Amino acid sequence: MAGISDSPARKIARVHGADMTVSELVASEGLVRNCRHTRELLKFDISERPLGIQIFGSIPARMAAAAAIAASSSPDFIDINFGCPARKVVDKNGGSSILKDLKLLGAIVSAVVDAVEIPITVKIRAGWNSDSLVYLEAGKVIQDRGAVAVTLHARTREQGFSGDADWEMIARLKDHVGIAVIGNGDIFTPEDTVRMFERTGCDAVMIGRGSMGNPWIFHRTKHYLATGEILPEPKPRQKIEMALNHLDMMIAHYGMPRGVFKMRAHFCHYLKGHPGSATIRAAINRLLSVDEIRALLWDYASGLEDQLQGADVRLSA
Ligand SMILES: Cc1cc2nc3c(=O)[nH]c(=O)nc-3n(C[C@H](O)[C@H](O)[C@H](O)COP(=O)(O)O)c2cc1C
Repeated sequence: MAGISDSPARKIARVHGADMTVSELVASEGLVRNCRHTRELLKFDISERPLGIQIFGSIPARMAAAAAIAASSSPDFIDINFGCPARKVVDKNGGSSILKDLKLLGAIVSAVVDAVEIPITVKIRAGWNSDSLVYLEAGKVIQDRGAVAVTLHARTREQGFSGDADWEMIARLKDHVGIAVIGNGDIFTPEDTVRMFERTGCDAVMIGRGSMGNPWIFHRTKHYLATGEILPEPKPRQKIEMALNHLDMMIAHYGMPRGVFKMRAHFCHYLKGHPGSATIRAAINRLLSVDEIRALLWDYASGLEDQLQGADVRLSA
């Protein structure tokens, strides 16, 4: 996930039970032109394995060259993105815009499959809009051109993130192709994963937004799958501890002040839903000193605990 699933976030996801991780979206053009910032996205630690590097682009030969460059950093697989709805990607004919041209889609998959020795997976949306639902046809093309798995985010490009993901589409795709189908869209709880498996028969699930500021979802989901027991949600103090660990990892990875800037989006996710969190998030966004961020967050955590204890006392009275 662009801006989210960087190396620190992937390490955290793996430690918390994710079975595999995928890089942020990497522009094939940036790789081929040897852009320093784009190449940086290829770096990972072995603790993040099994790991895929996700690339996007619209020119088969350039995608092949980019895949070869990505493969030189030895990921476990390469994922091709045909799902991204962002203007700056689709305006360059990348991401979900390729769903409008399945011939081109097939040519890109073939070029990438031929360019590298490692497995290729593909991520798609259901189609450009509700009048052009191409996921079944696209799934067949992706399979025939040699990819080993297809992930379906069961929404159209036009939908963006609105409405519900239509899991029926994932079930239909699973019936339609022989390669592994990874279901994606709207998994926010361990129970959602079980429902996704039951309703679609998919081979694996991909969890996106549900893991932002919430890496516990991976272990809680696996525990639920294995035992049927729902583990408790993390307490506010645990979340703040995790956020501060995450901050340290970001600074180790990006240096200062970039690590602090890049952490701001994650703080938002860790704090979401807690009383008064909007004020704290705004305050954090004005701070660059790690000590001040720490002090602010611990203060906030103590305040939250007092409030929770107060609520417990009131409930038991
Ligand atoms: C901030 C953000 C960044 C994302 N970046 C990517 C990306 O780089 N590549 C990709 O395939 N999907 C990306 N997605 C889409 C997610 O991978 C996923 O398909 C979508 O959010 C639906 O799944 P979810 O309901 O579990 O979040 C992104 C989503 C968000 C919210």
